[in-house]
Amino acid sequence: MCGVVGYVGPRKVVGVILEGLRRLEYRGYDSAGMAVHDGSSIRVEKVVGKVSDLASRVEGINLDGTLGVGHTRWATHGGVTGENAHPHRDQDGRFVLVHNGIVENYLDIRDQLESRGVSFYSQTDSEVVVKLLSQIYDGDMLRSLTELGRRLEGSYALVILSKDDPGGFYCVRKGSPLVLGLTEGEGFCASDVPPLLPYTKDVIYLEEGDIAEVRPGSVRIWDKDGRPVERPVHRIDWDVSMAEKDGYPHYMAKEIHEQGTVLRSTLKGRLSESGVDLGDDVHWDGDFLRSLRRINLVACGTSYYACLVAERVLERWTSLDVKVDIASEYRYRDVKIGADTLAVFVSQSGETADTLAAQRKVRSLGGRCLGITNVRGSTLAREVHDLLLLKAGPEIGVAATKTFMGQLGALYLLALKLGWERGDLNPVEASRLAYGLLKLPYEVERVLERDGDVKAAAERFCGYDDFLFLGRGFSYPIALEGALKLKEISYVHAEAYAAGEMKHGPIALLEPNVPVMVVIPKDGLYEKTLSNVQEARARKSPIVAVASDGDDLIDQMADWVIRIPRCEECFSPFISVIPLQQFAYHVAQLRGCEIDQPRNLAKSVTVE
Ligand code: AGP
Repeated sequence: MCGVVGYVGPRKVVGVILEGLRRLEYRGYDSAGMAVHDGSSIRVEKVVGKVSDLASRVEGINLDGTLGVGHTRWATHGGVTGENAHPHRDQDGRFVLVHNGIVENYLDIRDQLESRGVSFYSQTDSEVVVKLLSQIYDGDMLRSLTELGRRLEGSYALVILSKDDPGGFYCVRKGSPLVLGLTEGEGFCASDVPPLLPYTKDVIYLEEGDIAEVRPGSVRIWDKDGRPVERPVHRIDWDVSMAEKDGYPHYMAKEIHEQGTVLRSTLKGRLSESGVDLGDDVHWDGDFLRSLRRINLVACGTSYYACLVAERVLERWTSLDVKVDIASEYRYRDVKIGADTLAVFVSQSGETADTLAAQRKVRSLGGRCLGITNVRGSTLAREVHDLLLLKAGPEIGVAATKTFMGQLGALYLLALKLGWERGDLNPVEASRLAYGLLKLPYEVERVLERDGDVKAAAERFCGYDDFLFLGRGFSYPIALEGALKLKEISYVHAEAYAAGEMKHGPIALLEPNVPVMVVIPKDGLYEKTLSNVQEARARKSPIVAVASDGDDLIDQMADWVIRIPRCEECFSPFISVIPLQQFAYHVAQLRGCEIDQPRNLAKSVTVE
């Protein structure tokens, strides 16, 4: 969950590393550090705090060098302290490394090293790694790193400097992402693409077990056994402005605002009124589609809520038996996977540890796996049989917004393709639904224009510390997502329930200090949800309703109404999620919270 960067070339490395870390800060932000090789020695600077604190620290120091590594941390082993911050060094100062991941057998290794007289200054697994390397090192870096890889269990992306080698750095990757950037006379590496975008669009994704040596303008890669390998160069179609705030106060505001464009680009080239084409990365034929009986959707967090929406549309448009699960549960359950099952794994990052483990489980049972992700070179994208990319552009805010929109788009494409090509939907109806889906980006843009109304609601309700979110049918997953957004970025306690469940327990919480946010578009379950609103109102809870234009009845029931345009029931999640994202954003801003980097969270959760 941490971010690592490395650079070698003609530029002053401090600026490159600070800029790279800023672009990776969404991965972790409790401490930061860098190491600079000045040609004869390596200097390490680290701080508890953000990259801006590291920038202030190094400002007054003459850190001259053109080779270095940097790190932004999300603590796993050991508290948030200067000692535990990266980079870590061995006892002789010969090796310095930064690490993203978790080494599971680090306590055993630490015991062994301590019995040989090695002492430790931190509680981290990463210090253990650099000191193990120091013990293993026999004068040959490749051989030593190969041996290091054999001894470590768990996940790691390592970037290593050697005092004796001022000409480049080494990388080792297992289980945690690491991308190399190529330009003439320079070498880069990072945990993700954004730090590389100002310099190059040609990247290499290291594969499991890979070891790389990066020197100015050249890269050599070996597999886990030390055999030389070639890895493909990918051209990134993101540009640097996509990873900038572009005048918005926060990435989250920008990303909410981009959702019409994102949905358009997810659908583009894949959908027409005569059919769905999921592209060259999906390799199904008609026989396979017709043979399917079951579909399992697996994900975490916001991606899981996208799957809950998809469950409802797949049930409506296909005859498949649909099952949705949280990846951290699914991976340990006795799931039944047959030749008639399609397993779908949804993850914006493509690096979520539980989702990857669930996918590997299905593969080991012989199941067919489709990955839906925003990151082409991610582990999920590389491991699945079939791949559907969101094309949302980089999402930097920790709270997922535009990728949720992209996931809905991709999952609806999947549902429509299955319904259409299996013959579950009649072609006229399928074509009508395709048209409805094609119109959605415009509808989304219309809703985004209503931000001012949502801000007014946030101003009125930002002082409350507890919320109950309710919804039924397609609106239930949206209530869940709205509550998650609110608690993630504003630290307001928010629980979501299927509206019909409220009287089975949560109603006990209701009182004038607990507002109910109800998602109640004019759909087939409108009257049922309205009854639940009345129940909440009778307990004197303030009611905030996300309701359709023209619904006059709700005005009599709710204390505040946030209006959304009317749309067909099955498409309502695309529309109703937007005011909930905006509400969470404005409440967080009014409460003075750190919107893009909420406490304790990280953008990609690469640990179990
Ligand atoms: C969303 O706002 C959260 N940050 C989080 O729940 C996230 O959706 C979850 O960690 C899954 O991430 P993924 O989509 O990258 O797998």
